Amino acid sequence: MRKIVLILLGCLSTVLITSYTNYTSETIPLKDVFKGKFHIGVALNTRQIWGRDTNALKIVKTHFNSVVAENCMKSMSLQPREGQFQFRDADQFVEFAAQNNMFTIGHTLIWHSQAPRWFFVDEHGNEVSREVLIERMKNHITTVVSRYKGRIKGWDVVNEAILDDGSFRKSKFYTIIGEDFIRLAFEFAHAADPQAELYYNDFSMSLEGKRNGVVSMINKLKKQGVRVTGIGMQGHVGLDYPKISDFEKSMLAFSGTGAKVMITELDVTVLPNPRRNTGADINQNYEYKKAINPYIDGLPDAVEAKLQDRYLDFFRLFLKHHDKISRVTVWGVTDGDSWLNNWPVFGRKDYPLLFDRQYKAKPFVEMISRISTKK
Ligand code: G3I
Repeated sequence: MRKIVLILLGCLSTVLITSYTNYTSETIPLKDVFKGKFHIGVALNTRQIWGRDTNALKIVKTHFNSVVAENCMKSMSLQPREGQFQFRDADQFVEFAAQNNMFTIGHTLIWHSQAPRWFFVDEHGNEVSREVLIERMKNHITTVVSRYKGRIKGWDVVNEAILDDGSFRKSKFYTIIGEDFIRLAFEFAHAADPQAELYYNDFSMSLEGKRNGVVSMINKLKKQGVRVTGIGMQGHVGLDYPKISDFEKSMLAFSGTGAKVMITELDVTVLPNPRRNTGADINQNYEYKKAINPYIDGLPDAVEAKLQDRYLDFFRLFLKHHDKISRVTVWGVTDGDSWLNNWPVFGRKDYPLLFDRQYKAKPFVEMISRISTKK
């Protein structure tokens, strides 16, 4: 008899949990929760862009009012060989966004990473001159931005140009052109679509050095009359870094430049961090070891609770400063889609997003909507 009661109780709790999660994912759209405060966005992979992941698309259409392509608009994808543009995936992404009336973000025009090698060398393999690289940058930006003029509302014009200590990253763009490459990129983008919002986007933005470096770069650009509409704080964070107060300091400092602030690539890793790697530099990779992949059979309650607290703390912060924030975008639909399963160690199982591998909203999604409606 006791056994039957226990089984019945087990069934009942499953039914309750299932209906709770269904209720959460289907009837409280996050885009309604944050209406009038900020856009809530999500990054799409090519399976989603082409409609092959229908469960993910249901989530996207229900909860989000802004989208960004996770990979297919990077220069390596759009112009793998000089002058040979490949717009298939990007066109489909923009079409999907237009059909669903989403605030559409273009990611990213100038990024040292995922830039094809030809960009920086001539036919003999020698480094190109400043003039040639500027011309190539201009051609790339003009071609891409003009194609989606009026449909892509905001562009990550320059990505990750400042190092943690606030100095300029010594990328090929920087070493060949000098820091002016940033101004030029913004000017080319503005000329191609004067209405588009234009952003500077970077990771580890709560570090003091980077905060100061970005603020002084943006102030200088503004003095030069360059249109920079927004600053994107990527938001690849962990359970214990960065401090919310440091994140807040940066939000306020960036807002102080007059730019809109946006959280552009939010995810929260729960996995151990080899060598305290807290950035998002995709060139840093570490060897797989079983010991640093601890949650292959699911997330223990204690860690789930920490993840929940962390998400709630961040969303409390975003809501507190919603007048300064124009968008919060999560970097993927479900945990299974996340780049963090393969970085900085390939083949782990992470749980960094709002929806789990079964396409269910995590319980804290409901809690986020509750704190949002509280005065
Ligand atoms: O598409 C190929 C596939 O054909 C091939 O079989 C497979 C083998 O590894 O690779 C696939 O490409 C991968 C691609 O993601 C699509 O999954 C690349 O190797 C991999 O490097 C690439 O990683 C992306 C990374 O940027 C580099 O472009 C991540 O998905 C993406 O989440 C990440 O996003 C960046 C932002 O753009 C900028 N900020 C940091 C953020 C995280 O690194």
